[in-house]
This record gives sequence, structure tokens and C-alpha cells, in this order.
Amino acid sequence: MSDLLSITDLTMTIDDHHILKNVSIDVADGECVALVGESGSGKSMTAKTVLAMQPKRAHLTGSVAVNGIEVVDRPAKQIRTVRTEHVSMIYQNPRSGLNPMRRIGAFIVEGVVDAGSMNRTDAHAKAVELMKAVRLRDPDKLFDRYPHELSGGMLQRVMIVGALMNDPKLLLCDEPTTALDVTTQAEVIAILSELQQNRRLGMLFITHDLDLAASISSRTCVMYKGEIVEEGQSDTILEHPSHPYTSALINARPTLDGSRDVRLVSVAQRMAEVEAQGVAA
Ligand SMILES: Nc1ncnc2c1ncn2[C@@H]1O[C@H](COP(=O)(O)OP(=O)(O)OP(=O)(O)O)[C@@H](O)[C@H]1O
Ligand SMILES: [Mg+2]
Repeated sequence: MSDLLSITDLTMTIDDHHILKNVSIDVADGECVALVGESGSGKSMTAKTVLAMQPKRAHLTGSVAVNGIEVVDRPAKQIRTVRTEHVSMIYQNPRSGLNPMRRIGAFIVEGVVDAGSMNRTDAHAKAVELMKAVRLRDPDKLFDRYPHELSGGMLQRVMIVGALMNDPKLLLCDEPTTALDVTTQAEVIAILSELQQNRRLGMLFITHDLDLAASISSRTCVMYKGEIVEEGQSDTILEHPSHPYTSALINARPTLDGSRDVRLVSVAQRMAEVEAQGVAA
């Protein structure tokens, strides 16, 4: 039986630049897999290929299959089926995915109603049920609100509701809490984890944070310069990393001043040292 998501030997080039190199990632039904790496390593590009949303000039080889349906270089109709029935994606900044002039309720129900998969009454009932599941209070009042009236954490929960309206089997989460404040981050992570387990969702969870990866996923894939350099049980990777890049990421955990820039600079420095010694692949 094939996995829910099977990415096999995926390579992406843009104008002769290698963006992804022989990437293979599998996500089984109900499994949460983390994809971890620093900025620019290729995490978002990997997720975009699952929805065939990579830049037009990107050239792909290899295979990306969702529930056995191939999406690399396939007709628009086949890709539409995957997007509307099998996979949803949650992005870093919830505001960027919302039309500021549309009310929250319209945003949530329009996808499934327009696709003809649900009538307006059923869609409303489903939205209310999901809004309760993500702990949004007073769903009916929220329906009439505009995006600017909601906090970032509430908006991200609205995006999660929108993403689950069509009962996808696979949820792609691309740094879904990076744009939120720390308390809200923890709340949204807890909600995502709960939904993933209760609904047996397959999840590809993208983050630059190995600790967060270990807290939400059972398996972690570490990406460096477009390649998966390490893969295994999330706890094991955190405790016994085998690739120098993974160790560099772990050693660059937040310091008390919490400066992310300092962390990323230290990862880059460490990898430059490692590469100079010829240890890295
Ligand atoms: N539209 C584009 N056209 C050409 N190259 C791009 C495009 N978008 C991204 N890239 C390049 O692809 C590489 C991978 O980018 P990607 O967005 O996947 O990184 P990422 O791991 O998601 O980083 P971040 O943590 O900052 O989100 C980078 O070198 C980036 O410069
Ligand atoms: Mg990204």
C-alpha cells in the first residue's frame, strides 16, 4: 500500500540552480513528519510541489504522489482533485491568505460551496463545529467579523478551520506559528497536535526548530541546501544527531536573549567550518 504522501527522488532546478536534490519523504495516514532546516534550505519549495504551486519556471524530476495520485507534470484536472479533496496547507502569515474586505464566515465556507461539495447550510454547520474544535468562541459572531478585527492567533485558527472544511487526509503546515507571539504559538501548536491525533490527519510540519519538531512529530527529516541530510525518529535525532548540520542546528537553540539572527549566523558559521574540513556531504 502506498503512503498518503510519497515524495521520491524529487529534484527541482530553477535557471540551472539546484533548489531540491533527490528529496524523498513519506508521510503515512495519521502520521506527523517534521521537515526542519534553516532559511532558504528548500522546505517551502518541497511543500509547494505537493500542491503543484512551485514557480512556473521550476523544472522538476522525480515523483510526488498524494494518495497514489501523481502531481508532477500532470494535467490541471488531476492537480485540482488533489487540492480540493486530499491536501490543505497552512502558511506562516494568516493575514496574507485572507481578503481584508471579506467577512470571516464567507472566507471559511466559500471554498467548499464554490467547489459544489457542500451546500451553504451544511458548510455553516461544519464551520461552527470546527471553530469549536479550534477553541474559537462565539462562532456565529465571528462569522460576521472582518480579518482586521481578529488577533494573529485567532486568524491562524480561522485558517486551520478553512483548511479542514473539505476533510483533507493530509495537512501541510509551513511554519504556522512563526509569525505569532510565544504564548499564542504554544496554543496553536497544541490545537494542531490535537486535531492531527483526533482526526488521524497526515501532517508535514515545517519548522526551523528541532525541539518543536520533536514535540509535535514522530519522525523528522532534516534539510540542508535542498537535500535531506538526516532522517529518523524525532527524539533520537534530537538526542543523537548524526549529521554535523543537525548538531549545528541543535547547538543554535535560542539563547536567553532569544535572538534568531544570532542563532542562524552561528549555524552558518559552524557549517562553513564543517565544509572547510570536508566533513559534510
Ligand atoms: N520564486 C522563486 N524563484 C526562484 N528561486 C526561489 C523562489 N522562491 C524561493 N527560491 C529559492 O529556493 C530556495 C529554497 O527556498 P524555500 O522558500 O523553499 O526556503 P525555506 O527553507 O522555506 O526558507 P524559510 O525558512 O526562509 O521559509 C532558496 O534558495 C530561495 O532563494
Ligand atoms: Mg519557507
